[in-house]
Amino acid sequence: MKFHVMTLFPEMVEHGLNTSILGRARQKNIIAFDVVDIRDYTLDKHRRVDDYPYGGGAGMVMAAEPVVRCYRAIEEKILASGCKKPRVIYLTPQGQTFHQELAKEFATEEELVFLCGHYEGIDERAIETIVTDQVSIGDYVLTGGELPAMVMIDVIARLVPGVLNNGESPEVETFHDNLLEYPQYTRPEIFEGKKVPEVLLSGHHAKIEEWRRRQSMIRTDAVRPDLIEQANLTKKEWEFYKNYKESQS
Ligand code: ADE
Repeated sequence: MKFHVMTLFPEMVEHGLNTSILGRARQKNIIAFDVVDIRDYTLDKHRRVDDYPYGGGAGMVMAAEPVVRCYRAIEEKILASGCKKPRVIYLTPQGQTFHQELAKEFATEEELVFLCGHYEGIDERAIETIVTDQVSIGDYVLTGGELPAMVMIDVIARLVPGVLNNGESPEVETFHDNLLEYPQYTRPEIFEGKKVPEVLLSGHHAKIEEWRRRQSMIRTDAVRPDLIEQANLTKKEWEFYKNYKESQS
């Protein structure tokens, strides 16, 4: 899978994507990155990409021309490689909120293009011309789209087969089944007087699984009660949850 990133800060994106698991996956050619500097596509002799907003107001707006020209260069490469016209994701607090299901949908694409904005935004005509999806990573405002793009790429890339190590499943984790993850422990058995829960030392796999599911339910109930409504629980688990809630009230 190939991720194209249109940005004014290519070094920031390159550095962010070159480390850890994504860096390893890139070296193994499981995923590829194409980080493109929008500034290379300005026709302005001073390489300016922003201008004052029509109608006045604070801040500067990224002009349509370099953005659209940059995209067209990327699109040309993609079409020449035999792939279809890509989805183009604009990172903006005005977009739909990113979530795991959306990541799964994007992970089925062969090529994705991310458009990172800066200043007060991008000329609307560029967005209308090239963008297929507007996505926010949460209800807060960042200084630019680079970190949100890296967040999305990280989430999507780990769903691509081969990116995680053998045995690591992208599914048996937080948000699978709409439950948060259970607590994890490693050695030593006692840390500053705190002991690892006995059941985890028992070697009894069914009991461990049951304990973990229950811990997941308890955590989800405490932090994200909205999720538990949609959780995929067995009858026995619902029974446990009901009793747990009653014991709490
Ligand atoms: N750009 C600035 N803030 C953002 C956010 N919350 N999500 C996506 N892009 C952004």
